[in-house]
Amino acid sequence: TSSECSYSYEEYKETADWLLANTDIRPKVAIICGSGLGGLADLLENKKVFPYNKIPHFPHSTVQGHKGQLVFGELNGKQCVCMQGRFHFYEGHNIATVTYPVRVFFLLGIETLIVTNAAGGLNPKFNVGDIMLIKDHINMPGFAGQNPLCGHNEERFGVRFPCMSDAYDRDFARLARDTAQELGCDSFLQEGVYCMLAGPSYETIAECRVLQALGADAVGMSTVPEVVVARHCGIRVFGLSLITNKVVTDYDSTERANHEEVLETTRMRTEDLQKFARRAVSLKSEQ
Ligand code: 6GU
Repeated sequence: TSSECSYSYEEYKETADWLLANTDIRPKVAIICGSGLGGLADLLENKKVFPYNKIPHFPHSTVQGHKGQLVFGELNGKQCVCMQGRFHFYEGHNIATVTYPVRVFFLLGIETLIVTNAAGGLNPKFNVGDIMLIKDHINMPGFAGQNPLCGHNEERFGVRFPCMSDAYDRDFARLARDTAQELGCDSFLQEGVYCMLAGPSYETIAECRVLQALGADAVGMSTVPEVVVARHCGIRVFGLSLITNKVVTDYDSTERANHEEVLETTRMRTEDLQKFARRAVSLKSEQ
């Protein structure tokens, strides 16, 4: 079926081996930068940059004006690799393609994955510009048969039926909360459940109400497939959502979800998110 994993172990391996042969950097941390949050990659030092279209078997970015590159380097002196531009399901990519880089990361020796995204706030207590530590997720495409682990299970990556009740690392979340004040972020740090929908259309009012009733605090169009695949192969995950707008749940409201607002909020908070990611990289390396 179209949702079945369409890559062989050898393909992931060839990609990883090619990268290892082309850089001396041996990162233990990978960062997937959400829309508008790719600035983090620019902060890396002693960079080695690989455009996606130069990497064997690597998927290509379709979004115009979006950088599509893998950046190896050092953040606070710690080696890491950054995905500047991720693959979204709504672009028409197969779910196996969306998660291809994560298995490459595993074969590179990555132990921790940091994921960031822009999301709509469902929790009425959230404000635009809040940063939400992802505590858990709701895999809505998974409910509809789009789980990246459907199809043949490659045991070299993980077990057939992986546990997801510990998807988001609690130690990381605790350390992030502990250091929020120090980072000057405690007034806008939240914690909650991220729900992924396929997109690209934003939610109707009725859909937002459904998601709130299900216990979701934020809604977006990414991250969950990558997290499922990372947990399958035992990579620890630390996730952050930037609340770029509040969803509309009231028929009298004249507000309309739009991409411009999402991008504007992203610009406003991009530095704070970078601080968190930096801190997470340092914390991981201290352990
Ligand atoms: Cl309101 N919905 C979804 N699905 N994704 C978003 C968003 C909303 N805001 C930012 N990303």
